[in-house]
Amino acid sequence: MTGRTAQKSNGARFRFALIFPLLLLSAEYFGAAAQESILTYDPSTITADGPENCAECHERTSEAWSESTHSRTYEELHLREEAQEILERLGESGSIRRNSECVQCHYTRHARESGGRAKTISGISCQRCHGGARDWIVIHQDTEQYPDRMERLMTATENGMRSTLKIYDLARNCFQCHTVPRENLVNVGEHPAGSEMFELVAYLQGEVRHNFLPTPAEETNKPASTERKRLLYVIGKSIDLEFSLRSLALATVDGIFLESMMARVQKAYDDLKLMGLNVAEINAMLDTIPKEGDTLKLVKNNKEEYENAADTISSLATSLEEKSVEYGAALAPIDSSLPAEFKGEVYK
Ligand code: HEC
Ligand code: HEC
Ligand code: HEC
Ligand code: HEC
Repeated sequence: MTGRTAQKSNGARFRFALIFPLLLLSAEYFGAAAQESILTYDPSTITADGPENCAECHERTSEAWSESTHSRTYEELHLREEAQEILERLGESGSIRRNSECVQCHYTRHARESGGRAKTISGISCQRCHGGARDWIVIHQDTEQYPDRMERLMTATENGMRSTLKIYDLARNCFQCHTVPRENLVNVGEHPAGSEMFELVAYLQGEVRHNFLPTPAEETNKPASTERKRLLYVIGKSIDLEFSLRSLALATVDGIFLESMMARVQKAYDDLKLMGLNVAEINAMLDTIPKEGDTLKLVKNNKEEYENAADTISSLATSLEEKSVEYGAALAPIDSSLPAEFKGEVYK
């Protein structure tokens, strides 16, 4: 542990003492952290030796991760013919692992300091989902300074961690990458226009699943409870609509990108509507989508209107998560839609 990290942790404690009373009053707190984009994260917050840092304490989680596509893309992507072909169509050459476009979604980069040269160190690592750990790795497991788990995790969150306290923040990462909001990459590079079937429960409970706490690690990789799955499902569908709109907002020309994103928004909207939930936030989400008469307004070059709608959906999803316990039974009608099969093989 370096002196700098230890200092940081003291600084964080001090800040925490100052802001804690405000936290209790302010629901905006988590919202602010949520606005950062995973595609433009700061590589200097990624700790140098990457996932191994985490493996020290999260052994089984790290094993599960290393067998997943997210980890293997580091060893495999640059060897795939399709990958080279995408690069050629973009008129580029050279290393895929260093390509400024590919690194945004397939890899994790680390830089010594802000502005320093970033180096690709792994595939889609723990820190791409849970946040660059430089400023929170010490805090999040420091049970001496923060004996109260809530306080510990909130302090870690304030320092960039995305924990299970807020599933919206963790899950929005998935959609930022999996909707592939890149017009040129899709139209010219012919890269897949996002993962078509991406549904949060199915994609999270298969090969990505890692659920071993409390420490020392439990033997079984537990599935999420039914209550948790309900929440994941509804939040996932909300984020799908939000990020499909954010992608459509970036469409400027006719082509496969525009068509795919139009279809994506329509499907996300239909799915949300078909759930038939009588939940105020969901109804408000459906109302906020731009329409022309009875049909959705799906056009290119309409950035501002779609982004405003996406921002509204983001606040509504956050509010829905905060009230999920209260909603409880109101979410039960979803149970028949919950997937019975998951994407990829569960690590045992
Ligand atoms: C020195 C040991 C140690 C290291 C290293 C470590 N962790 Fe942890 N981690 C823990 C402990 C202990 C807990 C349980 C803390 C608790 O219950 O609040 C935990 C809990 C977590 C949680 C769950 C918190 C929640 O959301 O409920 C996440 C996520 C996490 N760690 C991610 C990471 C990542 C990512 C890394 C590497 C960058 C890492 N940890 C490195 C010890 C460690
Ligand atoms: C915005 C995020 C994003 C960027 C940028 C990105 N990819 Fe991908 N890529 C993905 C996702 C998500 C998938 C999985 C898609 C799926 O589920 O079918 C994927 C899948 C792939 C596949 C497998 C395709 C198949 O048919 O199975 C290849 C090859 C690939 N990417 C190459 C590249 C290359 C080369 C670059 C850089 C020029 C790149 N990607 C940039 C997100 C991205
Ligand atoms: C930093 C970008 C990024 C994030 C964040 C991300 N993924 Fe992925 N994911 C990818 C890419 C890229 C691939 C495909 C890699 C390849 O084929 O080489 C992929 C593959 C997968 C796969 C394997 C099946 C498939 O379609 O290839 C699953 C399942 C998956 N992701 C689920 C998730 C879930 C669930 C989350 C959020 C908890 C998530 N991903 C977050 C980029 C990301
Ligand atoms: C693709 C995104 C993604 C990656 C990569 C990822 N996580 Fe997670 N992690 C999540 C999500 C989402 C949850 C919350 C699942 C839930 O609450 O149902 C989670 C939950 C956790 C938890 C709490 C649950 C438990 O008991 O295990 C820990 C600890 C954790 N992650 C550590 C890690 C470590 C360590 C790594 C790397 C070895 C890692 N994660 C990689 C998305 C990710």
